[in-house]
Amino acid sequence: MLAVLAGAATLMAWGTPQKRGKDLFARRCSGCHALDTNMEGPRLRGVFGRKAASVPGFEYSEALKKAAIHWDAAALERWLTDPNAMAPGTDMEFGLKDGEERKAVIAYLKSL
Ligand code: HEC
Repeated sequence: MLAVLAGAATLMAWGTPQKRGKDLFARRCSGCHALDTNMEGPRLRGVFGRKAASVPGFEYSEALKKAAIHWDAAALERWLTDPNAMAPGTDMEFGLKDGEERKAVIAYLKSL
């Protein structure tokens, strides 16, 4: 019972998918990515709908440059599941194992 209540409270705190995605982005992605500046990873505002490896001034891996990806929901879903499977040798050594989390982060990126 307590667990159920805690679960419901968590759901309420998370709110909408974009809100949850924003929070997840802060926790899981912002160590390497910012929205408007390049860090270890490229800036991500507007990444939804963009061609992969197209942020000026960021040094992408050859793997991602060659991959010819267009970032839509399906591509981001594959990328966040396992970047290395999509672009073998990529510099992004990170994946989100939880499908719900991937969905929320993608909804957030799309909303920017
Ligand atoms: C450990 C550091 C690290 C973490 C954590 C990380 N990334 Fe990345 N990300 C990178 C690097 C480095 C690249 C560039 C990859 C390359 O050039 O092969 C990248 C590239 C990307 C790209 C491609 C961008 C483009 O311009 O083509 C997307 C999209 C992306 N990351 C999304 C995310 C999201 C969303 C998260 C959080 C769920 C995340 N990343 C977490 C390091 C990271």
